[in-house]
Amino acid sequence: MKICVIALIFALILAISSASRINYSGNLVLRAIPETPEQLEFLRDWESASSIDFWILPAAVKQFADIRINAESYANVTQLLAERNISHKILIVDLGQLNKKEQQNIALRRALYNGNKAIDVENYHTYEEVMAYLTDLANTNPIVSLKTGGTSEEGRDIVQAIISSDLSANKPVHFFDCNIHSREWITGATCIWIIDQITSGYGSDPEITALVDQYDWKFIPIANPDGYAYTWSTDRNWRKTRIVNNGSACIGVDVNRNFLAGFGGTGSSGDPCSNTFRGNVAFSEKESSALRDLIAADRGRVKTAVSMHSYSQMFLSAYGYTTDLPPEYPEMFRAMEIAVGALTATYGTKYTYGNTAVTIYIASGVTTDHYYENEGIVHSYTIELRDSGTYGFQLPPDQIVPTAIETWNGLKAMINAI
Ligand SMILES: *[C@@H]1O[C@H](CO)[C@@H](O)[C@H](O)[C@H]1NC(C)=O
Ligand SMILES: *[C@@H]1O[C@H](CO)[C@@H](O)[C@H](O)[C@H]1NC(C)=O
Ligand SMILES: *[C@@H]1O[C@H](CO)[C@@H](O)[C@H](O)[C@H]1NC(C)=O
Ligand SMILES: *[C@@H]1O[C@H](CO)[C@@H](O)[C@H](O)[C@H]1NC(C)=O
Ligand SMILES: [Zn+2]
Repeated sequence: MKICVIALIFALILAISSASRINYSGNLVLRAIPETPEQLEFLRDWESASSIDFWILPAAVKQFADIRINAESYANVTQLLAERNISHKILIVDLGQLNKKEQQNIALRRALYNGNKAIDVENYHTYEEVMAYLTDLANTNPIVSLKTGGTSEEGRDIVQAIISSDLSANKPVHFFDCNIHSREWITGATCIWIIDQITSGYGSDPEITALVDQYDWKFIPIANPDGYAYTWSTDRNWRKTRIVNNGSACIGVDVNRNFLAGFGGTGSSGDPCSNTFRGNVAFSEKESSALRDLIAADRGRVKTAVSMHSYSQMFLSAYGYTTDLPPEYPEMFRAMEIAVGALTATYGTKYTYGNTAVTIYIASGVTTDHYYENEGIVHSYTIELRDSGTYGFQLPPDQIVPTAIETWNGLKAMINAI
């Protein structure tokens, strides 16, 4: 009875809060596969010069690109693809249904949660809820402290959770940024689950205790707070920040194209309407500047720097902006091989791995290249978490724990091997 009442209340809250949300009913996600360099070029140009929403960017010949479209443009888009002989299939038939199901799943888990933490770390949460959880953790657990790296364009704190058993010891650091791309909810959820794992295991789990005694752990669970808040309030599929671009009606900068490492090159757009808009100059954005300053504060101590993204199940190293390989690539490759080996051994989830530019696509101005090139961090990686397209960004909450467990296993194996 109690559960029913709570469920009803949450359903009501969600119904009210969803009133202003974009209704994606009838939207589809297409998977297109370019077979020739010309077809690839066409898809890239299209992405770069329009507001068309690529979920997976065109990467290489024979690699799929996922495109979200509304029902009205289906005929036009499929005709456009057909004219260039680009084959496609429908990956997601009705995004509206997927969004609705996601809201229901989240509400149901909320209603059933009876733990004693500020949030259920096995569910998705708003920016405010995540901040409340971190504050509570810092107030109650002596190894946790919070640092504000800056504020977002709309004034939200960009918070780093620091887990350290002795801050004055200046131990080697493992650094994580999550949810730079706001719609990639599984990334923040994975970071929060790992934070919870480490903080609740310290002192009781010997493996965790050793990892905390040896290292400092630093997480930015929501690196793009404005975009993230917007995915909850209005548009579940928002990727960029929410800055008003001068001289354009289009909103937002792609933070992960705004770093000073090959800034302005291929795989980023100069068009404010594009989902990969890089901004006018490197570090023009408060969000990228905050990350730059947070990682620079630990210069010389950061042993691994991991940027969490989704989706497509990939483990990626420098470089993103050029197909040239870094001199340390053999060591990077070895580390990725170990990480992916342990990750896949957990539940069989298949990952590909290698340098970003070849494995996925050329992307310039990205965190991983900045951390490597400007901060000298060899073990700097981007992880593209689950899944491979069944749910895309709307990964159901019941996949948070398995995703986090396999990722954590991969990271631990890597950290122990480097
Ligand atoms: C979204 O639009 C569809 C079709 O117009 C409608 O059936 C559905 O109820 C709407 N969903 C919400 C949450 O408003
Ligand atoms: C489809 O293409 C036609 C011709 O280019 C254009 O007039 C129309 O606005 C397009 N429709 C949509 C929904 O984009
Ligand atoms: C598409 O394929 C047809 C038949 O193979 C060919 O005639 C046509 O030139 C192709 N078009 C493009 C744009 O490649
Ligand atoms: C916006 O762009 C216009 C025209 O380029 C320029 O004059 C103005 O100073 C810019 N404003 C800001 C806030 O950058
Ligand atoms: Zn991303």
